[in-house]
Amino acid sequence: MENLNLLPESYVQAAWFVGALLFIFGLKGMSSPATARKGIVWAGYGMVLAIVATFCVPGMQNFALIAAALVIGGAVAWISGKKVKMTDMPQMVAIYNGMGGGAAAAIAAIEFAKGDAHSTIATILAVLGAMIGSVSFTGSCIAWAKLQGVIKKAPRLPAQNVINTLLLLVTIGLGVMMILNAPADNNLIIGFFIVALVLGFIVTLPIGGADMPVVISLFNAFTGLAVGFEGYVLGNPALIIAGIVVGAAGTLLTLLMAKAMNRSLSNILFVPMDAGGGEQQAIEGTMKEIGSVDAAALMRYASKVIIVPGYGMAVAHAQHKIWEMVEILEKEGVEVKFAIHPVAGRMPGHMNVLLAEAGVPYDKIFDLDEINAEFAQADVALVIGANDVVNPAARTNKSSPIYGMPILAADQAQNVIVIKRGKGTGYSGIENALFYTENCKMLYGDAQPMVGEIIANLKTMG
Ligand code: TAP
Repeated sequence: MENLNLLPESYVQAAWFVGALLFIFGLKGMSSPATARKGIVWAGYGMVLAIVATFCVPGMQNFALIAAALVIGGAVAWISGKKVKMTDMPQMVAIYNGMGGGAAAAIAAIEFAKGDAHSTIATILAVLGAMIGSVSFTGSCIAWAKLQGVIKKAPRLPAQNVINTLLLLVTIGLGVMMILNAPADNNLIIGFFIVALVLGFIVTLPIGGADMPVVISLFNAFTGLAVGFEGYVLGNPALIIAGIVVGAAGTLLTLLMAKAMNRSLSNILFVPMDAGGGEQQAIEGTMKEIGSVDAAALMRYASKVIIVPGYGMAVAHAQHKIWEMVEILEKEGVEVKFAIHPVAGRMPGHMNVLLAEAGVPYDKIFDLDEINAEFAQADVALVIGANDVVNPAARTNKSSPIYGMPILAADQAQNVIVIKRGKGTGYSGIENALFYTENCKMLYGDAQPMVGEIIANLKTMG
């Protein structure tokens, strides 16, 4: 198809630059739940502008193919975005992220295959982008498959770390050969991509359990870097800036999540979560049940209640009922606060998003550092579908896989009520000593109807 050549190149560059600014403003908006929706929309406008400008690049061809890709990709994203459940969001992030990495690697592959002469710096960046993008592509696909339950076990190869290191060295070696022999021949290019794709696959396969979202965040940072590098190769400032922003944000998020789980990045990548046996300490005591009438009474006559939501609240979609309950308690003069652990749920900000959706004001939601000292003054800690984030084993049991993770000090409240369906463990698969303590009572049932029962009982208490 003919080159449309609608605008002079400087207009295209200016539009890309404005698009990149919109990404940055969008990201800034996403830093607070109050402005997050607006931020997403701004970034969306930036993306539309960048895409429209790309159609006008002098020399651009194959418009029908690009339009077909946009329609197919846009339709798939629209439908899956509408249908995805909140609890399946991490998988969705993983697969979209993989597509970004794959796209960056594909751009590099086309540039190599064309065999055009590039400056040395552009060739180096193209090779780096291709390598990081390929690893991110297969790694993210594996992350998706594991979170979706398509791959159930996390097989760990004998000498896994040696194999990882060898593959990494071979990929780097082939990349260096491509730079030294640019433009490289097709066999070298194909070999390089195969090894880089296998590297992402092999490194990610044994990573499991609670570490996977951290790994997805790391791949997200990788994808950003790869896109930024390929942006340089293509001379596209929107790609460069968007890539750098994603790379920086992804790196920060990865480090924050790793810190919240008290694990180093190398430990996450190279040591399985249950390494060292993950021996469970025998827990003394018994679990004691409570009914919804007594639970309602405990909170109705309390002065201070701290609610600890966890993954189970998301599964049960209980946030609206919880807020209804809080409003009743507050009318009766009870002070109620929400305590959010940085890795509660299955993705960063999971609980904040759900509570904001239910209309809980932000000034009632507190981070771990802000609220932990207040549990000792609380009459009731109401734990709703949370488990690992309140497990005291993280403080005391050195052999526990979550040892060292900072936890919410729910156990220090006068009374602890835990709403969960049964005796299911949390994400890390370990028992929770909190449930066996003297001041803790279990209210068994799905979080939504259980909170509904508490509300009904509160209403009868007047
Ligand atoms: P979990 O430890 O996963 O515990 C969730 C609990 O909710 C389970 O024990 C389950 O017990 C209960 N539950 C499930 N469905 C329920 C329902 N419908 N109604 C009531 N209860 C229900 O959750 P958490 O405390 O939020 O901890 C999060 C975990 O995920 C941590 O280990 C964390 O490291 C990991 N993780 C999180 C992230 C991010 S970024 N959020 C990232 C990586 C890993 P029953 O089956 O008995 O009901």
